Amino acid sequence: MQRANIKLTRGVPPVESFPNDQIVQCTKTVMTEYGTEIQQYNASIGFKPLRQWIAGESNTQPEQILIGQGSLQLLDLSAQLLIQPGDQVFVEAPTYDRTITTLRRAGADILGFALEKDGPDPDEMERALKAGSRPKFAYLIPDFQNPSGTVMSAEKREAVVALAEKYNFWIFEDSPYRSLRYSGSELPSLYSLLPERVCQMSSFSKTICPGLRVGYMVVPLELVKALAKMAEDTYINSSYINQAIVFDYIRRGWLENHLAELKQLYSQRLDTMLACLDRHFSNRATWTRPEGGFFIGMQLNPQPSLHLLLENAARADLQLTDGRGFFANGGGENFVRLPFCGLTPEEIRQGIDRLDQVVSGLG
Ligand SMILES: Cc1ncc(COP(=O)(O)O)c(C=O)c1O
Repeated sequence: MQRANIKLTRGVPPVESFPNDQIVQCTKTVMTEYGTEIQQYNASIGFKPLRQWIAGESNTQPEQILIGQGSLQLLDLSAQLLIQPGDQVFVEAPTYDRTITTLRRAGADILGFALEKDGPDPDEMERALKAGSRPKFAYLIPDFQNPSGTVMSAEKREAVVALAEKYNFWIFEDSPYRSLRYSGSELPSLYSLLPERVCQMSSFSKTICPGLRVGYMVVPLELVKALAKMAEDTYINSSYINQAIVFDYIRRGWLENHLAELKQLYSQRLDTMLACLDRHFSNRATWTRPEGGFFIGMQLNPQPSLHLLLENAARADLQLTDGRGFFANGGGENFVRLPFCGLTPEEIRQGIDRLDQVVSGLG
């Protein structure tokens, strides 16, 4: 019998985490309660009760909340609005691969800053700024970064927003994992440090389910009208039915309980993966020990032949992501992203065991 493929590729939530029965109940309720209102075309900024709730959580006004079909869509709109071909954007290296694609499509000249264990080095950013770099914005993932799992330190958060203020660029703070902290304590968001310069994105993809496609952005007043117009001209509005379902789910108090369940489920999977890495890789690799989120970032030492690593892994029924996709300016041949939430503890054990065999086989 053929053994199952283990996919260390996609950082998606596991289907067993989806609150299906509750979503069915919320769907029935909102179709009855809001009826035709949510079935009609609507304002592009999104369903007001949900915007009001998000504004309360973010300590801002509902007028500054834009809801979209996932947060990635809002980043795409922002890139279209702000970037002219050749404009520079600062990112972390590594960073979320889809963002690299989105920014490239808008014509951005992407400059990656090496991630240290507590975020990119603001001094290095300032050196680039002093040398003439004028980024339109910096795209940063300060909490449980995708793909590395790092958290930006409080000092670096302060330093990075100070640079945005001094050199006059926007920051896009992408925070889909911020509420999935399994240990340690929360640090101030970049948005809370400089609300007039930071767009903060998040979504319900990782906290309820991605299929609803409900994400949002907290937008400085200066940008909100132009972004809402861009959204209206592009897709009129994203689904109010789905946004009302999310609102009803929250209104019933279910999100809080669900988050507690998710944290329990995911922290066990994280612990399992860390224990497996300690057992199999202690003298051949370094990796992060995240306090939340979905990913562990691992560097193999010495650098293997990437081609052989991916090919031999596939032969061993193990799918790995090509690490180079997370680096905008090259590198990543020895970087392996290890998503731990979407696999059962047994799949994690088998996956890391197979990875050990593949890396050992490379000599
Ligand atoms: C850093 C980051 N941003 C954005 C997204 C996409 O989120 P959404 O489903 O809200 O579009 C992801 C999904 O994996 C992600 O890891």
